[in-house]
Amino acid sequence: NRAAILKGKKVLITAGPTEEKIDPVRVLTNHSSGKMGFELAAAANELGAEVTLISGPVTLETPVGVHRIDVISSEDMYRAVMNQYVHHDIVIKTAAVSDYTPSVSYDQKVKKTDGPLLLELKRTKDILQALGEQKTHQYLVGFAAETNDVLAYGKKKLENKQLDMVVINDISQPNQGFNADTNAVHILTKTGKEINIPLKSKTEIAQDLLSMIAKEVDRS
Ligand code: PMT
Repeated sequence: NRAAILKGKKVLITAGPTEEKIDPVRVLTNHSSGKMGFELAAAANELGAEVTLISGPVTLETPVGVHRIDVISSEDMYRAVMNQYVHHDIVIKTAAVSDYTPSVSYDQKVKKTDGPLLLELKRTKDILQALGEQKTHQYLVGFAAETNDVLAYGKKKLENKQLDMVVINDISQPNQGFNADTNAVHILTKTGKEINIPLKSKTEIAQDLLSMIAKEVDRS
């Protein structure tokens, strides 16, 4: 039995991909399965926290005891997260939110022609940035999925987005990141800690991460 070190804490976790609608049959999305975020939700619940999980479209079962809110697009995710933010003490942003969405989304199926199709995309709202700016008492944890210069990009995210912790995924490596059952992460904290968690199951990574977060929150 693990100690209830997060008892009394409200934890908000986002997971999964977003889907950006092009037309009734086509979407822009990514390879996030939701596994990492769902494992974090289960681990936080085990440690006694009250957990809200905001998830994009995934095929996973809701962890026992966790309150789940389903969303589809990055705009839905933005609204749901901003609504929940003030009620939570710890926020962990595992979701792979689309950075771009179609400038126009069509209500009827776009018919194909013989020529190419040009799709214009516009930027989505940066949820993590907004959370950093509106932070009051929350301990804010961002994820970063990078293929190169992972530590440098992660450090930039920590600083620019006013995070308390950044969890960096090097997605150029096999068996980690999107859709895998295992993961390996680098963690940087605002307080200057650098921790490396080598390849293990996402269940174990989630447990390690939550213990670390609990310790940091306790200290701050
Ligand atoms: O779901 P799995 O298959 O288990 O895979 C897990 C994972 C690889 C998706 C996860 O571990 C991970 O790395 N998640 C972050 C993926 C990502 O979108 O990284 P990013 O570097 O593009 O974004 C960085 C951070 O900004 C993330 O916390 C993201 O939630 C946030 N963001 C991004 C865009 C946006 N418009 N708003 C955001 O808040």
